[in-house]
Amino acid sequence: MSQPLLQLQKLSVNYGGIRALSEVSLEVYPGEVVCLIGANGAGKSTTLRAISRVVKARSGSIIYDGKNISTVEASQVVRSGIAQSPEGRQVLTRQSVKDNLEMGAFIRSDGEIASDIQRQFERFPRLRERQNQLAGTLSGGEQQMLAIARALMSRPKLLLLDEPSLGLAPLVVKEIFAIIDELHAAGVTILLVEQNARLALQHANRGYVLEAGHLTLFGPAGQLLDDDRVRQAYLG
Ligand SMILES: Nc1ncnc2c1ncn2[C@@H]1O[C@H](COP(=O)(O)OP(=O)(O)O)[C@@H](O)[C@H]1O
Ligand SMILES: [Mg+2]
Repeated sequence: MSQPLLQLQKLSVNYGGIRALSEVSLEVYPGEVVCLIGANGAGKSTTLRAISRVVKARSGSIIYDGKNISTVEASQVVRSGIAQSPEGRQVLTRQSVKDNLEMGAFIRSDGEIASDIQRQFERFPRLRERQNQLAGTLSGGEQQMLAIARALMSRPKLLLLDEPSLGLAPLVVKEIFAIIDELHAAGVTILLVEQNARLALQHANRGYVLEAGHLTLFGPAGQLLDDDRVRQAYLG
């Protein structure tokens, strides 16, 4: 197999005196969609925040593209090709849709930013219709699309998606996951965090299960969907 694009080695994160993540080790290979599932509070967002260097790791390492990025600045992580669509979208509500997309390209100075915005509009036609609207006036689903499009504006090699289905109506969730499938088909490597385990496993190649900061199970997505422990705890 090729070298992993991302490798976490015994990654631990504390918030004050509280351990949120305990020696988590996982790999994401180029072109894969890997999902990280687990209950509320399991440490899923913490894992993504540690990779983005928004929170500090207590110990362990983050190897990306063969390099140890455990101590680099958050902006350097984006420059190296990792972009995150955070939990709760976090779009800039008082800025227009277009300005939010431009913000996603903050690390770039090439001449293709405008054409990349058009590319996002092709992928998300509803964002084109609303390009001059303030992002705060969009529906939840549209804000989720904007958060993903904004992350794509940095032309990431690795896309981190935190709870893209959270709070959205089933039809909108379907649309969002169709886009995740498209990105997968286009070769974008994705680490997907979801409380909706069934949905995540249906759209991923492999999955990891996180319980109270510890990885307890991992394997091919189909195998996890059939696993009794996963079924009982996460698939209802
Ligand atoms: N900023 C923070 N300060 C203190 N504790 C936090 C903070 N963020 C998360 N936690 C705690 O860390 C644990 C993991 O949280 P989180 O990574 O957000 O879980 P998940 O995304 O799986 O729901 C939880 O116990 C949560 O309460
Ligand atoms: Mg979370």
